[in-house]
Amino acid sequence: MRLLYSVAITVSLLANAASSQSIGDPIAGEQAFKNCMACHQVGDSARNRIGPVLSNVIGRVAGTYEGYRFGSDIVAAGEAGLVWTPEQMFDYLDNPQNFLRSFLGNDRARAKMRFRLRDEQDRRDVIAYLASLTTASLSSDICVTNNSNETYFFAVDTGGSMATSRVTSELTPGETLCNADEIATNSFVSVFESSTALEGCSRLVGAGESEGLVRYAEFDRCEWVSHNG
Ligand code: HEC
Repeated sequence: MRLLYSVAITVSLLANAASSQSIGDPIAGEQAFKNCMACHQVGDSARNRIGPVLSNVIGRVAGTYEGYRFGSDIVAAGEAGLVWTPEQMFDYLDNPQNFLRSFLGNDRARAKMRFRLRDEQDRRDVIAYLASLTTASLSSDICVTNNSNETYFFAVDTGGSMATSRVTSELTPGETLCNADEIATNSFVSVFESSTALEGCSRLVGAGESEGLVRYAEFDRCEWVSHNG
């Protein structure tokens, strides 16, 4: 059952990738991930090593994982809007340095990651594997992740405009809040500068979907993973 879920998630996450690319296999990807383990960890007890933790990396803003000292160019790419979608990661893994140079339009940009995964199928598989580890999508829960680099106060309301249940929490960068209520309708996720702030930003989210805050801005002009402005 768990396998079925992860395959379904992978299909939906990769649906936006270029149509010439076939879908990766998360099982083969677990093998291909051995290439990455010299520098990266995943899972509950994962720690930053030579490279940052890669749990929940899909949907994360580049260069933001807490406690890791990223190179200045990948941080600049994140600030310029780079979010790790399967498609972006597919190009990054082929050649991190070229990817950053073309993303930033800067011929002198440097990647701290000195590893290239050239085989296209390996890249698709490893991305499918990382997507299968993205915990927030594994149920019909509605979740919001703080993908920004500051701490904010979040709320997840289920039951649409009837707002039958609300969970709230302060989230540090990278943390996720889910509302596990049974839900049949769309729901809202909201972010506030603090628990006492009256105004913030809200987004309508479908049942079983997740949203991530990329950057907080006043007057409901926050940037979200699935929507800018
Ligand atoms: C030799 C060490 C090394 C290997 C092997 C390696 N990486 Fe990395 N990786 C890094 C380093 C160092 C960074 C930080 C890059 C920076 O700061 O510019 C990084 C960054 C990343 C990022 C960006 C993360 C973020 O939060 O922005 C992704 C995605 C990534 N690596 C995926 C992979 C995958 C998938 C593999 C295996 C196919 C892999 N890496 C293999 C060292 C490595």
